[in-house]
Amino acid sequence: MAGSADVVVAGGGVIGLSAAWLSAEEGISVRVVDPAPGRGAAWVAGGMLAPVAEATFGEEALVGLFLDAAARWPAFAARLTEATGMETGFQQCGTVAVALDASDRAEIDQLLDFRHELGLDTSRLSSSECRSLVPGLSPAIRGGALMPGEQQVDNRAVVLALVEACTRAGVDLVAERVASVSVGRDGAADGVVTQGGTLIPAGTVVLAAGAETPRIGGVPAAVVPPVRPVKGHVVRLQTAGTHQAFDHIVRGLVHGHHCYLVPRADGSVVLGATSEERGYETTVRAGAVHMLLDDARLLLPGIDEWELLECIAGLRPGSPDNAPFVGPTAVPNLVLATGHYRNGFLLTPITAEAVAAYLATGSIPPPLDAFPADRHLAAAPPAGA
Ligand code: GLY
Repeated sequence: MAGSADVVVAGGGVIGLSAAWLSAEEGISVRVVDPAPGRGAAWVAGGMLAPVAEATFGEEALVGLFLDAAARWPAFAARLTEATGMETGFQQCGTVAVALDASDRAEIDQLLDFRHELGLDTSRLSSSECRSLVPGLSPAIRGGALMPGEQQVDNRAVVLALVEACTRAGVDLVAERVASVSVGRDGAADGVVTQGGTLIPAGTVVLAAGAETPRIGGVPAAVVPPVRPVKGHVVRLQTAGTHQAFDHIVRGLVHGHHCYLVPRADGSVVLGATSEERGYETTVRAGAVHMLLDDARLLLPGIDEWELLECIAGLRPGSPDNAPFVGPTAVPNLVLATGHYRNGFLLTPITAEAVAAYLATGSIPPPLDAFPADRHLAAAPPAGA
């Protein structure tokens, strides 16, 4: 692709790649600028699509968004496989939440009440019911809850397929890091500037740089979304077998600590995740890995015999209300698609479809229109107050 594109996407994570792919499929010319597409937080993620398990107190407004987002995944996964011939690991596997001690049990019961009030599909499980659903669980667990509709994808398979889908749809992948947004004399965004100093012109700029978004220069301070990095450590393990170790995602509450185990079809398991506010650093720390393994082996003692494949850490793009920023900003031609926090994969189809729709029509469709990308400005105190 030579010359100016219709759209340049700053950031090739799961959000940037999917928005680029669907936009290109609508006939829009798109460039994605990222030094290593798909190798940031999307590479670290567990790939859970968990509208019920991630629904927590005070987040009633988000639940409808999460449910709508989850409902789009079967068609999105099928479309991605059809476009590329590549698998996504999509499964409706359900989630079993388990409690280790009595206060963990009480917390799961409180969440069950809250989720029932919202009409979500979940039911209480005894300890033996948990153990019959998830072979290998410790007899010490105090029961839990079933969330049968929850789904998962293989995060790495999805981003590899998205890179292929983008390439086949004619998206130009530029292996550079974006340093700043270029804003013209008229105050409108007109491209991005790479760290190497190259201007990549475009009619519209989509900022989809996840936790890095606030570090991209050139954007007026008031327009920069209040996104912050929330570090998550993840451990990847391989069971002895080459088939899925257990059917369901397991979410554990272990003496007040949260963890999850996501079983993949190839017998590997993703164990996550810490949630740490430490700024922009992704060093893998021994203490965090120790804590995850220690908690997980209290739930599934057989873990001790599994192979340790990888320890890795990434940065979730947190937002003040845990909702994403998707849509236009006060800078003409500058669109945000960031702040997806713990739900980047869950919110991928709904975000990509909304960005493609915005580029075609100038409006963000429901339900994402209920979360305007500039809502933080309304919440901010007036200057000088
Ligand atoms: N959605 C799981 C996580 O952010 O760790």
